[in-house]
Amino acid sequence: MHAPAAELPAVLSDPRWRDLERLRRTSPMSDAVLDEVRGRHIRSGDHWLIDFASCNYLGFDWDPEIIAAIEPAVRRWGTHPSWSRLIGNPRLYPEIEERLTALLGAPDTLLLPTATLIHASVIPVLADEGHVFVEARAHKTVYDGCVAARARGATLTRFRADRPDELDSLLGAADGTGPRLVCLDGVDSMTGNSPDLPLLARVCRERGATLYVDDTHGFGVIGERSQSEPCPYGSRGNSVVRHTGESYDGIVLVGGFSKAYSSLLAFLALPTPLKDRLKVAAGPYLYSGPSPTASLATVLAGLDVNERRGDEIRADLYRKTLRVVEHVHALGLDTPCEQGFPIVELPLADDGDLDEVVRLLWDRGIYVTVAAYPLVPRDRVGFRAQITALNSDEDIDRLDDTLTLLAERGALRLKR
Ligand SMILES: Cc1ncc(COP(=O)(O)O)c(C=O)c1O
Repeated sequence: MHAPAAELPAVLSDPRWRDLERLRRTSPMSDAVLDEVRGRHIRSGDHWLIDFASCNYLGFDWDPEIIAAIEPAVRRWGTHPSWSRLIGNPRLYPEIEERLTALLGAPDTLLLPTATLIHASVIPVLADEGHVFVEARAHKTVYDGCVAARARGATLTRFRADRPDELDSLLGAADGTGPRLVCLDGVDSMTGNSPDLPLLARVCRERGATLYVDDTHGFGVIGERSQSEPCPYGSRGNSVVRHTGESYDGIVLVGGFSKAYSSLLAFLALPTPLKDRLKVAAGPYLYSGPSPTASLATVLAGLDVNERRGDEIRADLYRKTLRVVEHVHALGLDTPCEQGFPIVELPLADDGDLDEVVRLLWDRGIYVTVAAYPLVPRDRVGFRAQITALNSDEDIDRLDDTLTLLAERGALRLKR
């Protein structure tokens, strides 16, 4: 249902939404309708662009083996057996959960359609009428889950991942007054950096708090470290807990298949008793329609491809990412991208130039994620290029040349 027309002007004149609404209406890279996709080349009208806004990091969206897995599954299960999970589960669900549990090395896993739904429904259950501590940069969907927990009786406090001592004091002050849940991102969706998870996990364990980590971006890209790893992302793409050598003791991990695995599905890694509790306490398990059969099939096929070719794909992704990051460094540009993750954020020298910069990128056929205020603070206004394994070296050349042009024009912020 559309909102009643009379409400619309008030909403749009609200200063919280005004800038975003202007961006949505005026930027060619916002709320766009695309007419054709060929791998990472996309067409809008008669204008072709190279897609650096996709989060399909492993290129599974165009993998022939993964695409071929859809039709047999749909023939067997229909497009969408629309039971909620509590009512009925195509066998694909337990198959994925078993394989995912083994990949992550977690005690158990639970699949739900999206990470957004997981945060909205699971954070309030875990927090109960206790205390939620949310990291200052946590993803909006995590924050919204924390706000929902507050509405159901929990207290809500912000903390910063780089101030573990402060978190320790906050947890200490709330001791003995109900559950304490600490929520943060693994790989940050804007900077591509991840926090010091072992340190934060230690603080939480010592205080008896649960650490809730959203690693929607890291899952599929970063994984366990070893001498034989093909690149610094590690091996197997089994997420930030394994990447940092941590155990799942006291940690609930949330990950998604909607980025690296190009499928509409998400998961929690959690102890089995908590899984059983969520089966009756988390709304989406009881009431939501399931993920489409096509997504369940592409996840299973993606797990196969990950096992056989994943490390090779990640090594190629890392090589391409380095080509951009090293170029950015050679130009002397500022970027928060420190850990080589394929998200390269580039703040502008002057946030007032955003429209002009976006226009230049568009004209040169470079499609990026625009980081406008208030999505980011004013001093970080700019854009992000996400690199995927499906971007060719010629695509990367084109991006690097365009960054050179923007740097020559003084549009991008220099490293201080
Ligand atoms: C960190 C983070 N968490 C959650 C989500 C939402 O994931 P989903 O599409 O599974 O709801 C996103 C999507 O952009 C994200 O970046």
